[in-house]
Amino acid sequence: MTAHPGIFITFEGIDGSGKSTQARRLAEVLTGAGFDVVLTREPGGSEGAEQIRSLVLEGDPDRWSPETEILLFTAARRDHMEKRIWPALKAGKIVISDRFADSTRLYQGLSRGDLRAQVDRLHEMMIGTEPDVTFVIDMDPGIGLARAKSRQTSEERFEDFGEDLQLKMRQGFLDLARTHPDRFIVVNGTRSMDAVAEDVRALALDRLAQTASG
Ligand code: ADP
Ligand code: TYD
Repeated sequence: MTAHPGIFITFEGIDGSGKSTQARRLAEVLTGAGFDVVLTREPGGSEGAEQIRSLVLEGDPDRWSPETEILLFTAARRDHMEKRIWPALKAGKIVISDRFADSTRLYQGLSRGDLRAQVDRLHEMMIGTEPDVTFVIDMDPGIGLARAKSRQTSEERFEDFGEDLQLKMRQGFLDLARTHPDRFIVVNGTRSMDAVAEDVRALALDRLAQTASG
């Protein structure tokens, strides 16, 4: 991993768990506290990556083979790194991303066969950067899917894989968090937006203080 003076925070979790809401709220809080913050999302976050986003999120669930999908998400991420994330981290900013490589590890690595080793190899070769802190917004997939579906967008390719996939993804995020306790923080997302945001705020400021002193 390349050393950089910035701080990289990501939000992960199943569809509809509240990641975008919480990423935005944390960005507001940290900006208000005087930090220089870049708020971004995946798939997307740069012009080229946003174009790839519509290729992967719209259309038939079987549109891409699992292997092609890994390449598309990684291509989008590489563009996002080159154009936005690496420059911001090198400039000492706080980057907050709504989803990142852990989503590929689970959605592409676990959902249609076991492709985790390929995902990890490609990540190491082409991306090589891990977040400093990852918040998993955890919740029951039934609630998350109902929230996600109420949005009514055309980006439903993954939501169309159904609740079984979301159950597997939820377990996958919790397993990742258990394996990397130094990076992950699991937050209960079934509470009100304000209650979740308050936890995220306090935990993030705590980690930032630790990073500054360590
Ligand atoms: P994600 O990015 O994980 O898909 P969003 O932040 O877009 O989730 O939230 C999905 C929907 O649920 C949105 O309509 C949002 O306003 C709503 N929502 C987010 N957090 C909560 C919460 N804690 N309680 C109730 N509704 C929420
Ligand atoms: P997102 O827009 O974050 O959806 P939501 O707000 O519903 O959580 O992401 C869209 C979908 O893309 C989501 O179902 C997960 C999927 N995805 C992957 O499969 N692999 C990835 O690497 C990323 C970043 C997202």
